[in-house]
Amino acid sequence: MTLKEREVEELTEAALREIAEAGTDADLERLRVHYLGRKGAITQILRSLGRMAPEQRREVGRQANAAKEQVEAALARRLEALKEARARRAAPALDVTLPGRTAFLGRLHPLTRITREICDILVHLGFEIAEGPEVELDFYNFEALNIPADHPARDMQDTFYFNDQVLLRTHTSPMQIRVMERRRPPVRIIAPGKVYRRDSDMTHSPMFHQVEGLLVDRGVTFADLKGVLTAFVHQLFDPDVGLRFRPSYFPFTEPSAEIDIACVICRGQGCRVCSATGWLEVLGAGMVHPAVFEAVGYDPEEFTGFAFGLGVERFAMLKYGIDDIRLFYDNDLRFLRQF
Ligand code: FA5
Repeated sequence: MTLKEREVEELTEAALREIAEAGTDADLERLRVHYLGRKGAITQILRSLGRMAPEQRREVGRQANAAKEQVEAALARRLEALKEARARRAAPALDVTLPGRTAFLGRLHPLTRITREICDILVHLGFEIAEGPEVELDFYNFEALNIPADHPARDMQDTFYFNDQVLLRTHTSPMQIRVMERRRPPVRIIAPGKVYRRDSDMTHSPMFHQVEGLLVDRGVTFADLKGVLTAFVHQLFDPDVGLRFRPSYFPFTEPSAEIDIACVICRGQGCRVCSATGWLEVLGAGMVHPAVFEAVGYDPEEFTGFAFGLGVERFAMLKYGIDDIRLFYDNDLRFLRQF
């Protein structure tokens, strides 16, 4: 390597080192002028090529041109790097002291909770869970339950019909028929599920939930019905809760009763939930009507049984002190997060 070639090499190394260390755009401009300006060190070498011997000119010329390109590229890269560093410094700072965002834990809907609680108690009392369709045949919803067409009892429940024969079930009682059709006594089932009626106010919703209960065996009496339902209500609330059995009428039970619980919202004083009576009707029940047994081929002389249908929303309102049934369906997180 000639002296000239070493000089170009050292010059290039120095230029690249200085560019890498440059801290401002002005430093870079100064270096550009120093090496590549009209009187710059590399420019001078290129200019001096004409005065060199042909072999040296070729070698040094190639080297000096390469040096010029390398230095130009290094200047451009460093300029870009300085620009990026400035942009980073200008960006809003990350505040590591800010509290993090809390992740919400999902909760069970109050109706899911109360349904599970109701079913748990009844399963422990010996009932088994059965499920069936919400889109139901007139036969199961009415006919087989001793409610023939044109029976005035059909007016007790305003029904959503698809056509003459197909409807949205108005209660879970069709499950009594569906289960008895398939089994012989003893039968001990509960059937939780959605039911539908044209009904809407503070204590009535067009879609709501019921849990049906059915127990059929030899020698079942009204005392069994009373005992089971009392034990159930005492477990769900507490043994001091006010409970009353009122005579009532359902075409598929005889005798029939409605069961009220003392309104826990006003503690029996009377409020809008209990229509100022101090009581809220939560259950319909009774001894299975012989006509229902005949519809499923059970001998009413041999078997007796009781059935009940409870309104899940009513129980949830009393248990959680909720005064409007519509709150269950609004999906307002402020309401739902309380459970
Ligand atoms: C029935 O639906 C009968 N199937 C119950 C029954 C079953 C009686 C077995 C005898 C033997 P009822 O229409 O009363 O009965 O409704 C039962 C319960 O559902 C009521 O006590 C009430 O708690 C609830 N309920 C009725 N309508 C609504 C509604 N629109 N919104 C919310 N809950 C309701």
